[in-house]
Amino acid sequence: MLGRFKPYLPYLRPVRGTLVWAILAGIIYGASNGAGLPLMINYVFPRVFGDSPAAMTAWKVVAVAMWLPLVFTVRGVAGYLNSYLIQSAGVRILEAIRLDYFRKLQVLSLSFLQKQTTGDLISRGLADTNQLQTTLTTVANDGMKQPATLLFALGSVVYITSHEKGSALMVACLAIIPLCVFPIRFVGKKLVKRAYQMQTQMGSVTNSLSENLGAAKEVRAFGLEERQARAFSQETSALIKVQLKVAKYAQSLTPAIEIISAFGIAVVFIYAYYAGVQLKSFLTIVAALYMSYDPVKKLGAINNEIKRGEAALDRLEVVFNEPVTIRDPEHPSEVGRARGDIAFRDVTFAYKSDEPVLTSVSAEIPAGTVCALVGPSGAGKTTFANLVPRFFDAESGTITIDGVDIRSMRLSDLRRNIALVSQDPMLFNDTVYNNLLLGRLDATPEEVKAAAVQAHADEFIRSFPDGYDTVVGERGARLSGGQKQRLAVARAFLRNAPILILDEATSALDSQSEQMIQDALRKLVVGKTVLIIAHRFSTIRDASLILVFDKGLIVARGNHSELYASEGLYRTLYDRQRTEAA
Ligand SMILES: Nc1ncnc2c1ncn2[C@@H]1O[C@H](COP(=O)(O)OP(=O)(O)OP(=O)(O)O)[C@@H](O)[C@H]1O
Ligand SMILES: [Mg+2]
Repeated sequence: MLGRFKPYLPYLRPVRGTLVWAILAGIIYGASNGAGLPLMINYVFPRVFGDSPAAMTAWKVVAVAMWLPLVFTVRGVAGYLNSYLIQSAGVRILEAIRLDYFRKLQVLSLSFLQKQTTGDLISRGLADTNQLQTTLTTVANDGMKQPATLLFALGSVVYITSHEKGSALMVACLAIIPLCVFPIRFVGKKLVKRAYQMQTQMGSVTNSLSENLGAAKEVRAFGLEERQARAFSQETSALIKVQLKVAKYAQSLTPAIEIISAFGIAVVFIYAYYAGVQLKSFLTIVAALYMSYDPVKKLGAINNEIKRGEAALDRLEVVFNEPVTIRDPEHPSEVGRARGDIAFRDVTFAYKSDEPVLTSVSAEIPAGTVCALVGPSGAGKTTFANLVPRFFDAESGTITIDGVDIRSMRLSDLRRNIALVSQDPMLFNDTVYNNLLLGRLDATPEEVKAAAVQAHADEFIRSFPDGYDTVVGERGARLSGGQKQRLAVARAFLRNAPILILDEATSALDSQSEQMIQDALRKLVVGKTVLIIAHRFSTIRDASLILVFDKGLIVARGNHSELYASEGLYRTLYDRQRTEAA
């Protein structure tokens, strides 16, 4: 059963010292809890209530009376230490697991991430790790104390009954315990599947929430408030349904075991009556039996908790066991600063197999070229550009930079040579300064400022009351579209990479902002190899190489005048754009 958790044993290593002390405390707890009361009834009571109570001195009476507080003190302190030490180890283990989960998400391929929903991935990282923590602490709390209690309590039963009338009584007492295993196993089996469903549904609820918050504007604009609330309500009631199923099984266990144990005690009653067992022995045996049923009950609860933990683990392992497909080669080529010759040779790529988005595409983009990618929507331009930094890997064919296959480079070397300005630049909820610094983490404040000046961003940044320390809000929500784009351009200046990938913004900005960005970009592209997914005819016309995409093929290439002269798709696209812009 615990074998399921075996791959995670290395997580215990850093906390093994704590665990040893915790185990020790657990054993002491078990001894005082399991054997303390039965032995007290057996040895202490007869001295107080026996035939000659007067025979004891006053000191002795006190000493005998102190047996109870002593047992409880030892039990209390040991129990506390056990729980606390285990919990402190538990939270540290969980921290490590959570961190590993996060790290894994950083290196998994975009194709994997796009197959998942963000909310579900969040839920795995928070709710499932939380469940794992609950499992761990429950197991840790009772996993040591209860078996120890059980062992010592059973020891007492065996010890005391062995002095009584033969072994039949002992057998009668102990026979019930194995019977409790049946309900424990039954409930555990039922639970694991339902717990998995519950955690998965938790993921859907999280996703519903996060998606809704991400679309706050659309919800209001389209008047979707009620519809969204209804959809959310459906998700939560589905969650409640499985939660209740989990509760139904989990809660049935304790009463089942209590009922079985009550029958056990009744059997002992009957036996005791006919065998003429003395009251003292009988009370001792019942106390010891009670002390052993209680751990059995709690072990059943632990089993439930383990099943829930298994379900959480199953969900975490979807991420943990996903192979990292885009990673460093075993023997990477040494790459310094690239010159920037890019070549595609017979590159075929598909997001879903059998549906190629690029089919045997070849292109040479010499260093220092501004290359515009044009073509109708869905033709494969963004896909083409995304292959260069290896956001995805081509299915067949090769992509080289300066003649070196990009798959033989370290990812960090490859990506250090590339700067990316996307259509909708991503900003973190941090200061303007820190957002710029993402371009190159070791840049000096002077370099950051210089980049902002070149991108025509310095002026508006300084107009904020907090200047470069202004916090931009989630995804840069407190900035205008033009401001965000200029920050993205400044970031690219700072990166100063030989290859630049630009996804030109489709939304038109006001002409002043537009002009500043165009001017910044003109400076930015100097001396670099640029792939620009171009939407504006001004950009397209200025490009020294234009690749025309259609349905996953490059159907024409050349400069503007060559392509325009040869009619075809390019001319149609270009004329349409020009009339639209006019
Ligand atoms: N993550 C993805 N998963 C599956 N299919 C995708 C994915 N991204 C794009 N596609 C599909 O691949 C094809 C090419 O998409 P791509 O984004 O490269 O087009 P594009 O030329 O950049 O179009 P646009 O001008 O509209 O940006 C489209 O048919 C699109 O539906
Ligand atoms: Mg695109």
